Amino acid sequence: MNTAFLHRVSLVALLFVAVSCATPAANDNDMPTINPANWPTTTGGVPLDPAIEARIGEIMATMTVEELVAQTIQADIGSITPEEVREYRLGSVLNGGNSAPNADVRAPAPEWVALADEFYAASMDTTGGRKAIPLLWGSDAVHGHGNIVGATVFPHNIGLGAMRNPELMRQIGRVTAIEMLVTGLDWTFAPTIAVVRNDRWGRTYEGYSEDPEILPAYSRAMVEGLQGTLGSDEFLDANHVISTAKHFIGDGGTRDGIDQGDNYDSEADLRDNHGAGYPAAVEAGVQSVMASFNTWHDKKMHGHEALLTQVLKERMGFNGFVVGDWNGHGQVEGCENTSCAASMNAGVDMFMAPDSWRGLYENTLAQVQSGEIPRERLDDAVRRILRVKLRAGMFEKAKPSARPMAGDYDVLGAPEHLEVARLAVRESLVLLKNQGGLLPLRADQRVLVAGDGADDIGKQSGGWTLSWQGTGNTNADFPGGVSIYAGLREAIEAGGGTATLSVDGTYSQAPDVAVVVFGEDPYAEFMGDREHVDFDDDRGLNLLRSFKEAGIPTVAIFLSGRAMWVNPEMNAADAFVAAWLPGSQGGGVADVLVRTPGGDVAHDFKGKLSYSWPRTAVQVKLNRGDADYDPLFAYGYGLTYGDDGDMEMLSEVSGLSDDGGDSGVFFAAGEAAAPWSLQGTSGGTAVTVVDAVTPVGDALTIRSVDRAAQEDAKQATWSGGAAAAVQVSGEAMDYARESNGDMAIAIQYRVDAAPEGNVAMFVTDASGAQTALDVTALFAEAAIGEWTQSDIKLSCFAEAGADVAALTTVLGIETSAAFALSLSDVRLASNEGRAICP
Ligand code: BGC
Ligand code: BGC
Repeated sequence: MNTAFLHRVSLVALLFVAVSCATPAANDNDMPTINPANWPTTTGGVPLDPAIEARIGEIMATMTVEELVAQTIQADIGSITPEEVREYRLGSVLNGGNSAPNADVRAPAPEWVALADEFYAASMDTTGGRKAIPLLWGSDAVHGHGNIVGATVFPHNIGLGAMRNPELMRQIGRVTAIEMLVTGLDWTFAPTIAVVRNDRWGRTYEGYSEDPEILPAYSRAMVEGLQGTLGSDEFLDANHVISTAKHFIGDGGTRDGIDQGDNYDSEADLRDNHGAGYPAAVEAGVQSVMASFNTWHDKKMHGHEALLTQVLKERMGFNGFVVGDWNGHGQVEGCENTSCAASMNAGVDMFMAPDSWRGLYENTLAQVQSGEIPRERLDDAVRRILRVKLRAGMFEKAKPSARPMAGDYDVLGAPEHLEVARLAVRESLVLLKNQGGLLPLRADQRVLVAGDGADDIGKQSGGWTLSWQGTGNTNADFPGGVSIYAGLREAIEAGGGTATLSVDGTYSQAPDVAVVVFGEDPYAEFMGDREHVDFDDDRGLNLLRSFKEAGIPTVAIFLSGRAMWVNPEMNAADAFVAAWLPGSQGGGVADVLVRTPGGDVAHDFKGKLSYSWPRTAVQVKLNRGDADYDPLFAYGYGLTYGDDGDMEMLSEVSGLSDDGGDSGVFFAAGEAAAPWSLQGTSGGTAVTVVDAVTPVGDALTIRSVDRAAQEDAKQATWSGGAAAAVQVSGEAMDYARESNGDMAIAIQYRVDAAPEGNVAMFVTDASGAQTALDVTALFAEAAIGEWTQSDIKLSCFAEAGADVAALTTVLGIETSAAFALSLSDVRLASNEGRAICP
């Protein structure tokens, strides 16, 4: 977690400030403007069809203003029922990363189809004079239809970029479309066509490249794969889905790589880098474009008329619709999640209003009625939405379960689909080192496969897999999935060798060679923002070093969503492969690494870096064409078996002076995590807890207790004499994105004595205001003496008035009654269905 620093400036942050001052990015004073004439024109994609346009006119002529407004609003299935769709007539629903039928991200595919039918039927219900307008269901099928158990999970875009193979992209798009259709869904929020200029960004892996070079061909191929080729009969036919180019525009160019942050590029850089894929996507006929969360020179894209309307719609001639991002409109100046005329006026046609849809519907309606949103603007938005629905044949289609392919569950993860994914894995691997030609491995050897990534399909798949963050998945969640170890075992056993899994690297008989699979754990969006690109989890390194000491040759397979500083690991390994986030078909790794049983090279390496590889951990903004470009491996690098793969020892000086930064952990292992501290307060005085026993006046005592290890928890005992609180506090930090992203504070606790009066849970913001929620029932109902966990949504505090953009206390618990409570862990967590408002 790397929330914006408000008052606290760490050494690292200072260093980055210095770096960004030296680059031309810091020109925020000479406010550049957008001149649409500087932007490319395009064919506009799908030509307007007079018959469709006439039909739209007929439909709209029968619609009430309420029905028109409803078309422009999309709700999340976690916050709306089919019954509410029937009543409100919304134009669309989505399943956000953590939303799924029956609130179960592992819901079997038939439940998706059944729910799609229910929403569809609600939108088609004509009782009481309602108009039947089929709704669209949108979903983040961003690396295959990864929301669904059993679907084919492709490598994330960072790996696909390394393939340099637009034709394979087209096939991936096609497979993704087909698997979506099996589950009855219509529309994917993909491809991300960001050009990623700072690898601190948590969404680096969603981008194909740091460089615009491959973007036109990739954007076109992916849109064509998903939607079918424009001009052919297959375009948006029953075998295809609607695609989205996102996030328009500048998402990969925010300062310090902060997600949803501020882009200060010049107009030319915005166009030439971040805009590189859009003309091709529009020409390929992409039917929706998602507005981005970021600003450009301090103006939010969701309110940027010049870019959304003048550039995208008018200059480029895009005639589909612009969808907003998750409550992104609420971040526009003067707006709220439930009210934002400015966003529609700027050119957003459909609001993504996951949980805010009802209020937004009411306010948008009022704003149209008052003229704050001109009627022509509303009409244009609805016209665009209906145009896409008509082009996609939505009005003619049967209910989702009766459409071609729907319910053909064998098609999810069909062998020929898995083969496409495996091919993509094979082509995305980049070989960075091959000392003495250790690779490819002979298949008749004794191989030890170690590391926490060796047999973990969830880890190799990364974020946006079953859940938003992709955390907590096990191999059982991937029927048809193959771990990297499983693939190696198959290839090696076929050649008469043995492959043994040993995650911790222990062995009884020394192997001929050890393969260590390690890397980043799954994350998505801002949860992946980092302060630097040091890979600072030493588990893989320790394994590599211990094998080296034992004289065992080692192959490192590095799983990551970005290029990272791993010089110590590269030094300790004989061969080093960047495998990115390959998805469910780990067998593609063995295809390249292991020789055929007959001893031939089975498949050579093809992958070439589409992101420059850093020489130090502070080279976060490292892109081909930089004036001072000095990567360890340049854009385009990648060895093959014909190359000399020997490498000199690398410097192990990371360039970091401090590993600073807020990790999203507030309290763990018995103490507050830096930069936070644990305090007791009573009667206006605050005491920082450092000792094993800390009295806080007469009202409260905080003492160390044991949960799983010695003193790994703290117990607070209130005497009931006066009000007192235990709290995790520090300098103000910004949690607005986390609150908007529906994240929660996960608290592990044990009630040791039931509260004898009311208990409040609070946060404090920089103004000093405390916002409290009543948690008496939560603690009163907890089983005494048992550890448990509750996740409290940050948005509960925001809705109660807290300024979550500047929190000085992230968790406080206060009572004036007798009560005893132990805490073992407090941290941010994504809402995987269990988070509550007390
Ligand atoms: C949703 C994601 C969404 C995110 C917004 C999450 O709760 O599940 O789909 O992208 O919030 O930041
Ligand atoms: C993300 C989008 C995504 C949307 C829906 C947002 O938070 O930025 O990329 O499509 O949520 O899940």
